[in-house]
Amino acid sequence: MGRYAAQVETASTRPARPLVTARTAAVWAALHRELEKHAGRELTVLDVGGGTGGFAVPLAQQGHSVTVVDASPDALAALTRRAADAGVAGRVRAVQGDGDALSGLVEPGSVDLILCHSVLEVVDDPAGVVAAIATALRPGGAVSLLVAGRAAAVLGRAINGHLRSASALVTDPDGRAGARDTLRRRFDAETAAALLLRAGLQVEETLGVRVLADLLPASVVEEDPQALLELELTLASRPPFRDMASQLHLFARR
Ligand SMILES: C[S@@+](CC[C@H](N)C(=O)[O-])C[C@H]1O[C@@H](n2cnc3c(N)ncnc32)[C@H](O)[C@@H]1O
Repeated sequence: MGRYAAQVETASTRPARPLVTARTAAVWAALHRELEKHAGRELTVLDVGGGTGGFAVPLAQQGHSVTVVDASPDALAALTRRAADAGVAGRVRAVQGDGDALSGLVEPGSVDLILCHSVLEVVDDPAGVVAAIATALRPGGAVSLLVAGRAAAVLGRAINGHLRSASALVTDPDGRAGARDTLRRRFDAETAAALLLRAGLQVEETLGVRVLADLLPASVVEEDPQALLELELTLASRPPFRDMASQLHLFARR
Protein backbone atom coordinates (compact mmCIF):
# COMPACT_ATOMS: atom_id res chain seq x y z
CA MET A 1 0.00 0.00 0.00
CA GLY A 2 3.08 2.21 0.58
CA ARG A 3 3.36 3.60 -2.96
CA TYR A 4 -0.12 5.08 -2.74
CA ALA A 5 0.55 7.58 0.01
CA ALA A 6 -2.28 10.09 -0.06
CA GLN A 7 -1.43 13.50 -1.48
CA VAL A 8 -3.31 16.67 -0.75
CA GLU A 9 -4.69 18.17 -3.95
CA THR A 10 -4.36 21.94 -4.31
CA ALA A 11 -4.61 24.19 -7.34
CA SER A 12 -1.04 25.37 -6.93
CA THR A 13 0.76 22.05 -6.56
CA ARG A 14 1.79 20.10 -9.64
CA PRO A 15 3.41 16.86 -8.44
CA ALA A 16 6.07 15.05 -10.47
CA ARG A 17 4.39 11.72 -9.77
CA PRO A 18 0.71 10.94 -10.35
CA LEU A 19 -1.59 12.77 -8.00
CA VAL A 20 -2.94 9.71 -6.21
CA THR A 21 -5.93 10.46 -4.04
CA ALA A 22 -8.74 8.26 -2.77
CA ARG A 23 -10.59 9.29 -5.94
CA THR A 24 -7.98 7.86 -8.33
CA ALA A 25 -6.00 5.29 -6.33
CA ALA A 26 -7.76 2.19 -7.68
CA VAL A 27 -7.32 3.35 -11.29
CA TRP A 28 -3.62 4.10 -10.84
CA ALA A 29 -3.14 0.75 -9.09
CA ALA A 30 -4.60 -1.08 -12.11
CA LEU A 31 -2.55 1.02 -14.55
CA HIS A 32 0.66 0.39 -12.61
CA ARG A 33 0.03 -3.36 -12.62
CA GLU A 34 -0.07 -3.16 -16.43
CA LEU A 35 2.96 -0.85 -16.72
CA GLU A 36 4.99 -3.15 -14.48
CA LYS A 37 4.41 -6.03 -16.92
CA HIS A 38 6.32 -3.97 -19.50
CA ALA A 39 8.88 -2.43 -17.13
CA GLY A 40 11.72 -0.70 -18.96
CA ARG A 41 9.81 -0.39 -22.24
CA GLU A 42 8.36 2.86 -23.59
CA LEU A 43 4.71 2.08 -24.27
CA THR A 44 2.51 3.64 -26.91
CA VAL A 45 -0.44 5.03 -24.98
CA LEU A 46 -3.65 6.57 -26.33
CA ASP A 47 -5.97 8.56 -24.07
CA VAL A 48 -9.38 8.88 -25.75
CA GLY A 49 -11.16 11.95 -24.42
CA GLY A 50 -8.10 12.54 -22.26
CA GLY A 51 -9.05 16.17 -21.63
CA THR A 52 -6.43 18.28 -19.89
CA GLY A 53 -4.06 15.36 -19.29
CA GLY A 54 -4.66 14.29 -15.68
CA PHE A 55 -3.57 10.80 -16.66
CA ALA A 56 -1.67 11.49 -19.90
CA VAL A 57 0.96 13.80 -18.40
CA PRO A 58 1.90 11.53 -15.45
CA LEU A 59 2.15 8.59 -17.88
CA ALA A 60 4.49 10.64 -20.09
CA GLN A 61 6.49 11.54 -16.97
CA GLN A 62 6.87 7.81 -16.39
CA GLY A 63 8.55 7.51 -19.80
CA HIS A 64 5.67 6.58 -22.12
CA SER A 65 4.64 8.13 -25.40
CA VAL A 66 1.06 9.40 -25.06
CA THR A 67 -1.40 10.61 -27.69
CA VAL A 68 -4.51 12.37 -26.42
CA VAL A 69 -7.46 12.46 -28.82
CA ASP A 70 -10.11 14.86 -27.58
CA ALA A 71 -12.97 16.76 -29.15
CA SER A 72 -12.26 19.97 -27.21
CA PRO A 73 -9.60 22.43 -28.46
CA ASP A 74 -9.65 24.18 -25.07
CA ALA A 75 -8.90 20.94 -23.22
CA LEU A 76 -6.08 20.16 -25.65
CA ALA A 77 -4.58 23.65 -25.19
CA ALA A 78 -4.56 23.09 -21.41
CA LEU A 79 -3.03 19.64 -21.94
CA THR A 80 -0.24 21.12 -24.08
CA ARG A 81 0.57 23.71 -21.40
CA ARG A 82 0.51 21.07 -18.67
CA ALA A 83 2.83 18.78 -20.64
CA ALA A 84 5.26 21.66 -21.28
CA ASP A 85 5.24 22.67 -17.59
CA ALA A 86 5.98 19.07 -16.65
CA GLY A 87 8.87 18.89 -19.13
CA VAL A 88 7.30 16.13 -21.25
CA ALA A 89 6.03 18.09 -24.28
CA GLY A 90 8.06 15.76 -26.52
CA ARG A 91 6.20 12.68 -25.30
CA VAL A 92 2.64 14.05 -25.43
CA ARG A 93 0.78 14.48 -28.72
CA ALA A 94 -2.51 16.40 -28.64
CA VAL A 95 -4.93 15.54 -31.45
CA GLN A 96 -8.36 17.06 -31.94
CA GLY A 97 -10.78 14.39 -33.04
CA ASP A 98 -13.65 12.10 -32.32
CA GLY A 99 -13.34 8.96 -30.24
CA ASP A 100 -15.29 6.90 -32.75
CA ALA A 101 -13.10 7.95 -35.68
CA LEU A 102 -9.67 6.94 -34.40
CA SER A 103 -8.64 5.07 -37.54
CA GLY A 104 -7.72 8.26 -39.38
CA LEU A 105 -5.74 9.52 -36.39
CA VAL A 106 -3.99 6.44 -35.00
CA GLU A 107 -2.46 3.47 -36.83
CA PRO A 108 -4.77 0.43 -36.38
CA GLY A 109 -3.25 -2.32 -34.23
CA SER A 110 -0.48 -0.04 -32.94
CA VAL A 111 -1.34 0.97 -29.37
CA ASP A 112 -0.16 -0.83 -26.20
CA LEU A 113 -2.52 0.83 -23.73
CA ILE A 114 -5.68 2.86 -24.27
CA LEU A 115 -7.38 4.94 -21.61
CA CYS A 116 -11.03 5.89 -22.01
CA HIS A 117 -12.01 7.61 -18.76
CA SER A 118 -15.33 9.38 -18.16
CA VAL A 119 -16.08 9.59 -21.87
CA LEU A 120 -18.64 6.89 -22.75
CA GLU A 121 -21.19 8.70 -20.55
CA VAL A 122 -21.18 11.72 -22.88
CA VAL A 123 -20.58 10.50 -26.46
CA ASP A 124 -23.24 9.86 -29.14
CA ASP A 125 -22.16 6.30 -29.86
CA PRO A 126 -20.38 4.43 -27.03
CA ALA A 127 -20.28 1.16 -29.00
CA GLY A 128 -18.60 3.01 -31.88
CA VAL A 129 -15.93 4.41 -29.53
CA VAL A 130 -15.24 0.98 -28.02
CA ALA A 131 -15.04 -0.59 -31.50
CA ALA A 132 -12.55 2.11 -32.56
CA ILE A 133 -10.50 1.43 -29.41
CA ALA A 134 -10.41 -2.31 -30.14
CA THR A 135 -9.17 -1.58 -33.67
CA ALA A 136 -6.42 0.77 -32.46
CA LEU A 137 -5.08 -1.73 -29.89
CA ARG A 138 -2.30 -4.08 -30.86
CA PRO A 139 -3.08 -7.76 -30.19
CA GLY A 140 -2.40 -8.23 -26.45
CA GLY A 141 -2.86 -4.51 -25.81
CA ALA A 142 -4.99 -3.32 -22.89
CA VAL A 143 -7.79 -0.83 -22.32
CA SER A 144 -8.56 1.04 -19.11
CA LEU A 145 -12.23 1.99 -19.18
CA LEU A 146 -13.76 4.22 -16.51
CA VAL A 147 -17.50 4.86 -16.56
CA ALA A 148 -20.13 6.33 -14.26
CA GLY A 149 -21.93 3.72 -12.16
CA ARG A 150 -25.69 3.58 -11.94
CA ALA A 151 -26.03 2.29 -8.35
CA ALA A 152 -24.07 5.17 -6.77
CA ALA A 153 -26.20 7.69 -8.65
CA VAL A 154 -29.39 6.02 -7.35
CA LEU A 155 -28.08 6.16 -3.78
CA GLY A 156 -26.82 9.72 -4.15
CA ARG A 157 -30.16 11.00 -5.39
CA ALA A 158 -32.11 9.12 -2.73
CA ILE A 159 -29.84 10.37 0.09
CA ASN A 160 -30.37 13.93 -1.15
CA GLY A 161 -34.14 13.47 -1.09
CA HIS A 162 -34.72 13.10 -4.84
CA LEU A 163 -36.65 9.85 -4.61
CA ARG A 164 -38.49 10.05 -7.93
CA SER A 165 -35.26 10.78 -9.74
CA ALA A 166 -33.66 7.80 -7.95
CA SER A 167 -36.55 5.55 -9.08
CA ALA A 168 -36.19 6.71 -12.68
CA LEU A 169 -32.49 5.87 -12.60
CA VAL A 170 -33.07 2.33 -11.36
CA THR A 171 -35.12 1.30 -14.36
CA ASP A 172 -34.07 3.64 -17.16
CA PRO A 173 -32.39 1.56 -19.90
CA ASP A 174 -29.57 4.13 -20.19
CA GLY A 175 -29.23 4.79 -16.46
CA ARG A 176 -30.46 8.37 -16.83
CA ALA A 177 -32.53 10.29 -14.32
CA GLY A 178 -34.72 12.11 -16.79
CA ALA A 179 -34.17 14.68 -19.54
CA ARG A 180 -32.29 17.13 -17.27
CA ASP A 181 -29.64 14.58 -16.29
CA THR A 182 -26.19 15.92 -17.17
CA LEU A 183 -24.99 12.47 -18.30
CA ARG A 184 -26.39 10.60 -21.28
CA ARG A 185 -25.94 7.21 -19.67
CA ARG A 186 -24.54 5.26 -16.72
CA PHE A 187 -23.41 1.68 -16.46
CA ASP A 188 -23.63 -1.43 -14.32
CA ALA A 189 -20.65 -3.79 -14.23
CA GLU A 190 -22.54 -6.11 -16.62
CA THR A 191 -23.54 -3.46 -19.19
CA ALA A 192 -20.03 -2.01 -19.31
CA ALA A 193 -18.50 -5.48 -19.71
CA ALA A 194 -20.98 -6.34 -22.48
CA LEU A 195 -19.87 -3.29 -24.46
CA LEU A 196 -16.23 -4.43 -24.30
CA LEU A 197 -17.07 -8.06 -25.08
CA ARG A 198 -19.08 -7.07 -28.16
CA ALA A 199 -15.95 -5.34 -29.49
CA GLY A 200 -13.95 -8.56 -29.04
CA LEU A 201 -12.13 -7.47 -25.86
CA GLN A 202 -11.64 -9.74 -22.84
CA VAL A 203 -12.45 -8.19 -19.46
CA GLU A 204 -9.72 -9.06 -16.95
CA GLU A 205 -10.78 -7.00 -13.95
CA THR A 206 -13.67 -4.82 -12.76
CA LEU A 207 -13.07 -2.39 -9.89
CA GLY A 208 -15.17 0.17 -8.07
CA VAL A 209 -13.68 3.67 -7.93
CA ARG A 210 -14.88 6.15 -5.28
CA VAL A 211 -16.91 3.66 -3.28
CA LEU A 212 -16.98 6.04 -0.29
CA ALA A 213 -15.18 9.20 -1.39
CA ASP A 214 -18.33 10.94 -2.66
CA LEU A 215 -20.51 9.86 0.26
CA LEU A 216 -18.40 11.07 3.18
CA PRO A 217 -18.45 14.59 4.61
CA ALA A 218 -15.37 16.65 3.67
CA SER A 219 -14.33 16.74 7.34
CA VAL A 220 -13.97 12.93 7.39
CA VAL A 221 -12.01 12.92 4.12
CA GLU A 222 -9.66 15.66 5.35
CA GLU A 223 -9.21 14.10 8.78
CA ASP A 224 -7.37 11.02 7.50
CA PRO A 225 -6.89 10.94 3.70
CA GLN A 226 -4.48 8.00 3.92
CA ALA A 227 -7.04 5.84 5.76
CA LEU A 228 -9.66 6.66 3.13
CA LEU A 229 -7.25 5.89 0.29
CA GLU A 230 -6.44 2.49 1.81
CA LEU A 231 -10.11 1.71 2.43
CA GLU A 232 -10.98 2.63 -1.16
CA LEU A 233 -8.27 0.24 -2.40
CA THR A 234 -9.59 -2.50 -0.10
CA LEU A 235 -13.21 -2.09 -1.24
CA ALA A 236 -12.47 -1.59 -4.94
CA SER A 237 -12.50 -5.26 -5.86
CA ARG A 238 -15.09 -6.48 -3.34
CA PRO A 239 -18.76 -6.83 -4.30
CA PRO A 240 -21.16 -5.46 -3.20
CA PHE A 241 -19.03 -2.36 -2.42
CA ARG A 242 -17.46 -2.42 -5.88
CA ASP A 243 -20.84 -2.21 -7.56
CA MET A 244 -21.92 0.79 -5.48
CA ALA A 245 -18.94 2.92 -6.52
CA SER A 246 -19.40 6.24 -8.32
CA GLN A 247 -17.30 4.88 -11.17
CA LEU A 248 -16.62 1.42 -12.52
CA HIS A 249 -13.16 0.65 -13.82
CA LEU A 250 -12.86 -2.19 -16.32
CA PHE A 251 -9.49 -3.44 -17.48
CA ALA A 252 -9.73 -5.41 -20.72
CA ARG A 253 -7.40 -6.85 -23.35
CA ARG A 254 -7.46 -7.47 -27.09
C1 LIG B 1 -15.35 14.28 -18.28
S1 LIG B 1 -14.05 14.66 -19.35
C2 LIG B 1 -12.88 13.38 -18.94
C3 LIG B 1 -11.48 13.81 -19.18
C4 LIG B 1 -10.42 12.77 -18.78
N1 LIG B 1 -10.58 11.53 -19.53
C5 LIG B 1 -10.42 12.51 -17.30
O1 LIG B 1 -10.73 11.38 -16.89
O2 LIG B 1 -10.11 13.44 -16.55
C6 LIG B 1 -14.67 14.10 -20.92
C7 LIG B 1 -13.74 14.44 -22.07
O3 LIG B 1 -14.21 13.76 -23.24
C8 LIG B 1 -14.10 14.65 -24.35
N2 LIG B 1 -15.05 14.19 -25.37
C9 LIG B 1 -16.39 14.26 -25.35
N3 LIG B 1 -16.91 13.69 -26.45
C10 LIG B 1 -15.86 13.21 -27.17
C11 LIG B 1 -15.74 12.53 -28.40
N4 LIG B 1 -16.80 12.18 -29.12
N5 LIG B 1 -14.50 12.21 -28.84
C12 LIG B 1 -13.40 12.56 -28.12
N6 LIG B 1 -13.46 13.22 -26.96
C13 LIG B 1 -14.66 13.54 -26.48
C14 LIG B 1 -14.40 16.02 -23.74
O4 LIG B 1 -13.91 17.07 -24.55
C15 LIG B 1 -13.70 15.93 -22.39
O5 LIG B 1 -12.36 16.35 -22.46
